[in-house]
Amino acid sequence: MKIVSHSIEVPVAANKQEFYRELALQLGGLLSGERDSIANAANTAALLYHALPDVNWVGFYLFKEGELVLGPFQGKPACVRIALGRGVCGTAAQARRSIVVPDVNAFPGHIACDTASRSELVVPLVARDALIGVLDLDSPSPGRFDEDDRAGCENLAAIYLAASKLT
Ligand code: SME
Repeated sequence: MKIVSHSIEVPVAANKQEFYRELALQLGGLLSGERDSIANAANTAALLYHALPDVNWVGFYLFKEGELVLGPFQGKPACVRIALGRGVCGTAAQARRSIVVPDVNAFPGHIACDTASRSELVVPLVARDALIGVLDLDSPSPGRFDEDDRAGCENLAAIYLAASKLT
């Protein structure tokens, strides 16, 4: 049997909304036929890290026994455990809403894992009213993420959740 690795095509798009629509199609294809939540998180992180411009960290924190624990990611090694309500990730997880942070230095309690990070987007992962974790994206550029990124990444997170068997 021939094993073919997945190629990543960086979407060529006229605007961000179109970019995210194309990325969503790619993600749906990449995850189709696989239900393992860790494998799917790993491939989601890899696709986003390589397709999105100007990011230095993309990955998952998974909600386990009352706290967030580092999951599949791309980027430099990161802090492993984050309490609910702490940092951008813990705040987004507790509030169950996405948070766009234009300047991480201005966010009270921001947890600096990679000192290169200047702005951040965190999308909570919620399925059937249960907190699954968060999808976290960091950029070395201030103000990298806007409302189009938030909406686009919320849709990508929904695709991940729908494709995966969540225990
Ligand atoms: N900055 C995050 C911690 C995770 S790292 O960015 C990978 C936070 O404040 O929650």
